[in-house]
Order: sequence, then structure tokens, then C-alpha cells
Amino acid sequence: MPAGRHFLQIPGPTNVPDRVLRAIDRPTIDHRGPEFQVLAKEVLEGMKRIFKTRHPVVIYPASGTGAWEAALVNTLSPGDRVLMSETGHFAALWQKMAGKLGLEVELIPGDWRHGADHAEIEKRLAADPSHAIKAVCVVHNETSTGVTTRIPLVRKAIDGAKHPALLMVDTISSLASIDYRHDEWGVDVTVGGSQKGLMLPPGLSFNATSDKALAAAKAARLARSFWDWGEMIAANANGWFPYTPATNLLYGLREAIAMLEEEGIPNVYARHDRHAEATRRAVRAWGLEVLCANPDEYSSSLTAVVMPAGHDSDKFREAVLRHFDMSLGMGLAKLKGKIFRIGHLGDFNDLTLAGTLAGVEMGLGLAAVPHRKGGVQAALEYLEAQARTASGARKAA
Ligand SMILES: Cc1ncc(COP(=O)(O)O)c(C=O)c1O
Repeated sequence: MPAGRHFLQIPGPTNVPDRVLRAIDRPTIDHRGPEFQVLAKEVLEGMKRIFKTRHPVVIYPASGTGAWEAALVNTLSPGDRVLMSETGHFAALWQKMAGKLGLEVELIPGDWRHGADHAEIEKRLAADPSHAIKAVCVVHNETSTGVTTRIPLVRKAIDGAKHPALLMVDTISSLASIDYRHDEWGVDVTVGGSQKGLMLPPGLSFNATSDKALAAAKAARLARSFWDWGEMIAANANGWFPYTPATNLLYGLREAIAMLEEEGIPNVYARHDRHAEATRRAVRAWGLEVLCANPDEYSSSLTAVVMPAGHDSDKFREAVLRHFDMSLGMGLAKLKGKIFRIGHLGDFNDLTLAGTLAGVEMGLGLAAVPHRKGGVQAALEYLEAQARTASGARKAA
């Protein structure tokens, strides 16, 4: 084993902080006993604060893919039409799942460098006077591309078309890292996962609901059993689960929520914004290109970097892993070999970013990828200036 800590700088799973690891490292308790009841109520309420909702949040012992399925099967019926935007690999996987479940997908194609096209969503909905489209599904932060979709604009598009479709949003790689407001933005189902901004191991996933989604669930006819909100929400009201919960991950979740709230959720978002900006400055100084084509859609949880033509990002990533024990995200599906992704989310600070960017810059040199030096320096100058401004603001207060 190499000395020192492995740098897990993929855009999730992220580094699990010691506090969360220690919280998980406890005996599993009876999930039908009073101690569990207190834990369950705490995390269910805590997750409402993270999603910014007053509606029920459902917690599944499953990876994010399970929560995708739960969102669809609880609210829709066989043959229902859903409108989806092809923003990248994860949007494409959600689309594939919808097809497998017997839904009819209307797809808005995309170039994997932009977020969902809200004007096109409005156009498609306006062209659907019979309201055959039952849901609009978008990925808030496309983990495969480092591009975000502005959810309030999607909400506006649905309202602009005066269309009753449900709005479903995947926040698996944005929750607890990028500003998100389930109720205020009028989202009906938000899908989340444990292994990214929440700083937990993989294994928990979430659905935040709305009155409209819960009403749709009463009429929905897709087969559901494990994912059924009805039994979950009824049991959760008293601190119980209808089947064995992932008790130790819930200990971790309680600790993670406490950590996020100690830092202050707005500060968590600001920290991610700062690290993303510093990363983009480094990328530009290296003379490389950020994959995201629209600055209004930059992701604060990861940055995807385009490889110069003729250079394979997997060979570069392999060099970084071999020399510096750091994992970077690969290019997925049609982006394989063409980009690499720097994860800067979760339990992450200025010096973690400095180390990460140093590993990237040295790796570019070792893999003979054409670039200029000075990316790390550009990032450090930005971080130093930000730290100076923050300490000035603290003194003035
Ligand atoms: C945006 C997004 N959606 C869905 C998923 C699938 O989640 P999981 O792999 O936890 O099942 C991921 C995984 O990285 C993701 O980033």
C-alpha cells in the first residue's frame, strides 16, 4: 500500500470523513426498538432540511438507481409518456430505465455540453394539449459532463406551457453541494444519493415528494413493491421502516447532516462554488478546455476537462493513479478516453484541492499531454484572494 491517503477525486463516491466513519462504526441496533425510532425520526427530518422541503422524504437502502426507479414507479402508469433531456450518460441511463419499465420516452437530444433546454421543454409541452406527457425528468448535475440544468427555468417552462406534468429531478451529484430547493422550485420528486455531497459510503438513496406526487401515487399503476412510498411513509411516521433499514448508514447520515449544518448549508454551497472556480482557472491556465459550454451551467461539484486531440484520458488517469495514488473520473460512454473529470465535492477543502490540482498538473507532464504549467499557481492565487476577502469580512463583522 502506498504511504499517505489515497486521493479519491472522482465525482463520487467521495472521501468519507473520519467523523462519519466513526459514527458508522457502532453496533447495529434493533430496528424495531426505541433507540432506532429516535434515529429514524432525526434523519427523516434532517433530510427534509437538506432537500429544503416540508414534504415526506423517503430513504431507501439502495444506490441512486433504485431511487430513480422509485420516482417513476410510484407516480406513473404503463404507457405514460415522459419528457427527458439527453444531457449526458446519466440522463441516458434514466431514459433507458423508463423504457424498460414500460413508459414511452420523448427525448430531447443534446450535445452533452449543455444542460436541459428549457425553451425546447416548453415547446414540447405546449405541443401537447391533451396532456399525454405525465412527467418531465431532468438531471440537475450531469456527473458525466460537469454541466448543470437550471431547475427554476425548467419549472418556468412547465408553468409557461400551463402543463400539469410532474417535475422530477435527479440531484445525485448535486445534493448538499450545489444550491437546491425542492419546495421553492416546485419540484415533485427529487432523487438523491448518499455517496457524493452527503459524504457517506454508497448504499442510501432518497426521494423527496410533493402533494402532487403523492396524489399521483394513488392513481399510478406501474408495479411497485419494494419501492412503494405508501408503506414507507406510513411506517416512517412512527420512526419505523417496512423492511430492514441500513441502520449503520443511518448513523452516518445523522453525523453527515450535523456536519453540513455546523458548517452552514449556504457555506457548503459557497465552498463548492469556490473550488469549482479555482479548478476552472487551473484548467484554463493549463491551456485545456472545460467540457461545459455555458458558464451559467458550470457544475460546482465536478469539472470535466477535454483532452487535447490524439491523447487518451485513460492513459493520463492511469499515470496519475500510478505515480500519485489519485483516482480521477473517466470519460463515460461516448466521452471515453476524451475527457477526465475532477471531483471537488464532499469532504473537501482548499488544500485538498491544491493537492488534487498538483497531481493533475504533474500527471499531464508525466503522460506527455501538451499543456502549460501554472494551473496550480492560478488556483492558489484565487484561493488565497478568496481567503483574504473572507477574513476581511469576518474582521469587519
Ligand atoms: C447524476 C447521477 N444519476 C444517477 C446515478 C446512478 O446512481 P448509482 O450509481 O448510485 O445507482 C449517478 C451515479 O453516479 C449519477 O451521478
